[in-house]
Amino acid sequence: MSKRILSCMQPTNRLHLGNYLGALHNWVKLQDEGDNQCLYGVVDLHAITAGHDPGSLAQSTREIAAAYIAAGVDPARSYIFVQSAVPAHSQLQWLFATQTPLGWLKRMTQFKDKAGKKQDLASLGLFGYPVLMAADILIYKATHVPVGDDQKQHLELTRDIAQSFNQHYCDGEEFFPLPEPYITGEATRVMSLRDGTAKMSKSADSDMSRINLTDDADTIAQKIRKAKTDPEALPDNAKGLEGRAEADNLVGIYAALSGQAKEDVLADFGGKQFSEFKPALADLCVDKLSPITARMRELMDDPGELDAILKRGNDKAQSLAAPTLEETMKILGFWR
Ligand code: TRP
Repeated sequence: MSKRILSCMQPTNRLHLGNYLGALHNWVKLQDEGDNQCLYGVVDLHAITAGHDPGSLAQSTREIAAAYIAAGVDPARSYIFVQSAVPAHSQLQWLFATQTPLGWLKRMTQFKDKAGKKQDLASLGLFGYPVLMAADILIYKATHVPVGDDQKQHLELTRDIAQSFNQHYCDGEEFFPLPEPYITGEATRVMSLRDGTAKMSKSADSDMSRINLTDDADTIAQKIRKAKTDPEALPDNAKGLEGRAEADNLVGIYAALSGQAKEDVLADFGGKQFSEFKPALADLCVDKLSPITARMRELMDDPGELDAILKRGNDKAQSLAAPTLEETMKILGFWR
């Protein structure tokens, strides 16, 4: 059976190497595998749940879409869409909001982390964020959702919403399929260049902790040269990376970018110092990222063309989503 795969990113800040190796790289592989049908959204409605700049939202939305295309998502085969331009997402979200107990949402650890001690000041939208995410997924009846570890709980909530709808309104028949997570593998978990135990993140204070997809070659080389390491030489097998978070991270990045296992990288670099490994890693990074960066710039320089691609994607997405919304409303007994 063909899989229907859906994943999304928020248009907040810049994309970095972690987004590329942890997500985009994978998305492209999934698109090229079997007869998967892939949908990739830019979730701008999610991006306004925690304060945003109206002056840059549209441009950030274009930038994320450009990154998808530059990384290899093919708009002719996959759907690339903007969430706010496909109204069925918001409409289904309302229907789900009325069916989701507050208790389920109160358990969401990401809300607790984001709202911190000031929960009463957090918006209803931030609290309901996972319900909108469930709508993103179920409006297309997606079967597989590639997400990072931090989104696993939201995906479980999505399954709960789908299951409870099926049970309550469809006599347990599977109207909404229960989507499976595609948790991205260990090898592609990219950590900060300053602290091998923290994820590479767009919100970390120091820009030196991440490689942005828009960094030029010199900046990339400088960030890798300055990346934190330990004084030891590289081990000659993966076991030797245990307890050496920074070394493990850099070897992992090399492995992912070159399409090798860490063992293979260490077969070449075992016993060598970082002073030798880092320049090789910098060259590899520049080699792999510069075509993506260049393509992204090209797309950003021609917003007319990019917008036309997005409009086609939005239309395709809406025509896939609309019948599901219609059926859901019929099942709920609305006047039509
Ligand atoms: N919550 C996701 C994140 O921050 C983004 C997201 C929104 C998403 N809707 C989605 C991811 C649907 C996968 C599927 O990473």
